[in-house]
Order: sequence, then C-alpha cells, then structure tokens
Amino acid sequence: MPNLAVELQQTPGEQETPVLKVENLHTWFEIRRMGFFKAGDVRALDGVSFELYQGETVSIVGESGCGKSTLAKTILGLHRPTKGVMYFEGKDMSEFTKEDLKAYRANVGYVQQDPYGALPPFMTVRRILEEPLIINGVKDKAKRDKRIKAVLEEVKLAPVEDFLPKFPHMLSGGQQQRLVIARAMILEPKMLVADEPVSMLDASVRVEILQLLRRLQKKHNLAIIYITHDLSTVRYFSERIFTMYGAKIIEKSTTESLLDNPLHPYTQALFKATSDPDAENLKTYKEVPTGEPPSLMNPPKGCRFHPRCSKMIKGKCDQFEPPEFQVNGEQLVSCWLYEEKK
Ligand SMILES: Nc1ncnc2c1ncn2[C@@H]1O[C@H](COP(=O)(O)OP(=O)(O)OP(=O)(O)O)[C@@H](O)[C@H]1O
Ligand SMILES: [Mg+2]
Repeated sequence: MPNLAVELQQTPGEQETPVLKVENLHTWFEIRRMGFFKAGDVRALDGVSFELYQGETVSIVGESGCGKSTLAKTILGLHRPTKGVMYFEGKDMSEFTKEDLKAYRANVGYVQQDPYGALPPFMTVRRILEEPLIINGVKDKAKRDKRIKAVLEEVKLAPVEDFLPKFPHMLSGGQQQRLVIARAMILEPKMLVADEPVSMLDASVRVEILQLLRRLQKKHNLAIIYITHDLSTVRYFSERIFTMYGAKIIEKSTTESLLDNPLHPYTQALFKATSDPDAENLKTYKEVPTGEPPSLMNPPKGCRFHPRCSKMIKGKCDQFEPPEFQVNGEQLVSCWLYEEKK
C-alpha cells in the first residue's frame, strides 16, 4: 500500500480555535414497548468531548455498535444531542440562528459508507451537484457550471462532459464514491465527516479514494473525521486516533504514540491484530477482543470495559468510572491503571 501520509499543514496550537469542539455530548434513543410504554434509552453516545482542528484527520475506531455513526450523525445535525454542547469555530451551536445553521451545513461535508444508497437514483451527476449550489443561493448558472466542473476535475471524474449527464447507476462503485465526495466538497466546506468511506468498495479502489481524501485535505486544509474498521489505514491517514468503547471515547492519542504504545487494555487488544507493520496484512478488528460488547441500555457499572478486561482492579474498575488521565503528554486515557501517572 502506498504511503498516504502527507505533511500536516497546521499543528494544533494552543491559541488556535478548534473548528469543532464537543463537550460532554450525549445522544440517547428512547425505546418504547408496543409503541407506547417507555422501555428505556439506548445511550448510543454517552459523554463525549474532544476538539478537532483545521488541517487534521482524526480517525475514530471501535467495534460495531460502540456509537461511531451516532457521533457522526450528531455532529452532522442528523441527530439532536440529548445533552452536551457543540461549538463550531468557537460558537455554541445551540445558539445558532437559521442562517448560522445553513452556513454550518455548507461547512460540513458528509461522505457515507454506501455511495449508491447516498445518491438520488433519478438525478444526473449535474443535478446532484447543482442542487446544493442553488439551495445556497448561487443564482448565476455560469458560476454553478464552473464550480461543478472544478469539483468533478478535483475528484477525477473526467472528462467532465462525459459524466455530467450520467445517473448514479451508470457509475462504478469507486466513481459513485468520488461523486459523493464531490457533493460533499461542492460548497467548499471546512470539515468532512467520512463514515466508513471505503468499506463497501473493492480493495483495488480503496487506496485511491483515501488518497483522494488526503489530497483534498491538504489542498483545502480540511478537518476530517474518519470512521473506520480498517486499522491498517489509520496509520497513513490520520494525525490522531480516538478509540471508542461503549458509547464513550476511552483513548485519544496522536497516531504515532498510539501505534507505538496503546495504553487502554481495549486499544491494546484492538491494535494487537494489526501490529505487523506490513500494510498488506490487511486485518480488521472484527474478532478481537473476546467477549460481548456492553449493553448500551444497561451499561456496566464503573469502567464499561471491566467485564472483558484482564487487568481489571476489583473494587475499583467495577465500581467507579475512570476519568481521563494524561500520559506521556500526548495521550489521554480513561483507565484506572494510569491513575498514579496523572
Ligand atoms: N435511531 C436509533 N434508534 C435506536 N437505537 C439506535 C439508533 N441508531 C443507533 N442505535 C443504536 O445505538 C448503538 C450505536 O450505534 P452506531 O450505529 O452509532 O454504532 P457504530 O459504532 O457506528 O457501529 P458500526 O461499526 O456497526 O457501524 C447501537 O446499539 C445501535 O443499535
Ligand atoms: Mg456505523
């Protein structure tokens, strides 16, 4: 696999305002029995905080059902948070006016897992790309055409004239995902949320799509949230990695320090399967670690990982939720094993 790494354009600095900041974000789904009696809540996102800076990719990893897509959709405004605050460029999003919200939507592009499902089947490439421009007030047709042409060239759907009249089903999977990326980029956003953007594509086009995202990031200084099951790509594609477990982020690290020294016992188990530096050894973490993921309706007391953890401290991990401890200056981990290193 070719190296996807490019120089980080901007290192997150202390004075820099994060493009996105989320604080104690919760998204719960109410479950009703027979459509009437409340049976409980699925706590799909249960207290998540982080900052995302312009020009960086943060990969989010964690096994199925841990809340990754819920986090993505909450950020995109597709789910309303139950609790917590989101700030876009320092502004509290709960205080957004209609205009602010419209501007936010233009500033955040969404790249979905299933490109065909994400594209309207009865619209041509031109219509798909023109619609967001019309909605966002680009009245001049020549301006719209110019922007559509530029974005199609950027995602390498060229010659542009050949693609404009096509419908999504006339494109290959890789071309459909390029079109989804073009639609995400058409309004020149500051941020992209990519939820498993290559997992449904043939292995042969996965690298090309990731390279395309990386190139766009570099050129436009984008911030990207990259959600993936494929741990072999995160080392090439992200500046930082967050590990999610049971609807929480349990470890936040720079990519280098995480791959050198994963701290949380869950992250250690997750990355053990891909410790081979040979990227051809494409492993996902479906089979590790052993044991069942926690119930999100009735999560375990204390650390949510304790029932599966070989390093569990009785009377502590099973009783008290660990706060975030800073280790080595670059890693934040929610695990009692690191308490004394605070
Ligand atoms: N609209 C919803 N209503 C009720 N429960 C939901 C809803 N959306 C997600 N969930 C539940 O929330 C939990 C987290 O789901 P989510 O899709 O965020 O997980 P994920 O980490 O993206 O998983 P995957 O890796 O399989 O995509 C799951 O238990 C899921 O069943
Ligand atoms: Mg998901």
